Amino acid sequence: SLNTDYFFDEAAYNTHDGGYVPLAEPKTPQQALRIPPLLKPDKETATDTYYTVEAQAGETQLLPGKKTKTWGYNTSLLGQTLVFAQGKTMHIDLKNSLPELTTFHWHGLNVPGPYTDGGCHAPVYPGQTRHIDFKVDQPAATLWLHAHPCPSTAEQVWKGLAALALVTDDHEAQLPLPHTYGVDDVPLILQDRRFHEDNQWDYEADYDPDGVQGPTPLINGTVNPYFDVTTQRLRLRLLDGANRREWRLHFSHDLPFTQVASDGGLLPEPVAFTHLMLTCAERAEIIVDFGDVTPGETVTLYSDDVPLVRFRVHEFTPDTAVLPEHLVEMPNPDVTPDMPIRKVVMSGMDETVMMDGKKFGMQRIDAKQQVGNVELWDVTNTNDMEGGMVHPFHMHGTQFLVVSRNGRAPYPNEHGLKDTVGVNPGETVRLKVWFDHTGVYMYHCHILEHEDGGMMAQIEVFDPQHPKTYKLMDMETL
Ligand code: C2O
Ligand code: CU
Ligand code: CU
Repeated sequence: SLNTDYFFDEAAYNTHDGGYVPLAEPKTPQQALRIPPLLKPDKETATDTYYTVEAQAGETQLLPGKKTKTWGYNTSLLGQTLVFAQGKTMHIDLKNSLPELTTFHWHGLNVPGPYTDGGCHAPVYPGQTRHIDFKVDQPAATLWLHAHPCPSTAEQVWKGLAALALVTDDHEAQLPLPHTYGVDDVPLILQDRRFHEDNQWDYEADYDPDGVQGPTPLINGTVNPYFDVTTQRLRLRLLDGANRREWRLHFSHDLPFTQVASDGGLLPEPVAFTHLMLTCAERAEIIVDFGDVTPGETVTLYSDDVPLVRFRVHEFTPDTAVLPEHLVEMPNPDVTPDMPIRKVVMSGMDETVMMDGKKFGMQRIDAKQQVGNVELWDVTNTNDMEGGMVHPFHMHGTQFLVVSRNGRAPYPNEHGLKDTVGVNPGETVRLKVWFDHTGVYMYHCHILEHEDGGMMAQIEVFDPQHPKTYKLMDMETL
């Protein structure tokens, strides 16, 4: 069956306090969609891959005229894409060539916290390099790397510190999915910015505690992009990389598409849509079939009624591949007996945002869960100020299952592994959560200004046989 709505509460779209910035179609000429290049490993063996990821400042030609001052990983804006093959061990040098401290957070990656995970407790000071090693131990998925220093995550991501990390595995590689990066397997990092004097970005000028927005869609760091389609099927790896914007995606003529993966990897079954809403940090992999489009035509991807990408369809060889009805086996471990249901509450707007009635404390552990235990988390958005807003709830260190929304079934594309879930005002989303590694992990609203504003907490995942202590940073010692 074909799903034709966005599912989320329409009344809670965007914000209603007057601060909302609608998108506007850019007036500058169309240009080819930038494809983030694949990062070349420093060294690679059958079992190990070595990368250097350098956070750097630079300038990027985004509009005609003056270049824009931007930040990026191994490039001037956004980043080069890392590939993590399941089962291999990664060795990564994290180099900070910026004028201020940053951290390198692997959003969605199943690694120990808090240092490898790269949240606030893993600072890399200017001119320094931190080294991490980890074994890739999760199914194929579209993950991402972003800066996460508290409380300037939002500003650093706004300046450009966001890159893709693609986990690959043998199962996914054998499925009849498009696999040629940049040709028929294409990432789309969805962001928005406001251009000021001389084509510059100005985070402070645009600051809004409910999330910074701009009117100009920026797709893979491209203003007003087109993409030349040369295959019948195109796989788009969508990432909501915006600080606060939701994207309500649909194609011209309501061209249907099939979602095959969410945050943590493949969905158990493909799901057909004409419309898809993504909240901040969520990912969706979709397959678009241009089989009924005449070469020479253009298919446009919109958010609401603003064009994001124009797909110029060229001649292609017919592709008769059919997706299997069943894509992957979902883990669904039993809940550990006698565990009370955990309650988490996101509340407030603007400066009043809180998690469980508190602002984030870098040195405060808010919760503990035993490694390997499987627990239910009830995540509530009590927010009814100004009609409320959707808070995207994100957890580090785990890919969870969405059990229910206010006791009802999750949305049709929420049957796979996720690390971020949009919670409507007045809603309780029940999650099934387990951790494979010990450590301290953050959980927070992924509207980045809400996170920096304190709608964040942290959990210690412990092993009773091997108690550990952690050096937790605080704002003063940074
Ligand atoms: Cu995507 Cu705590 O972050
Ligand atoms: Cu994260
Ligand atoms: Cu929020």
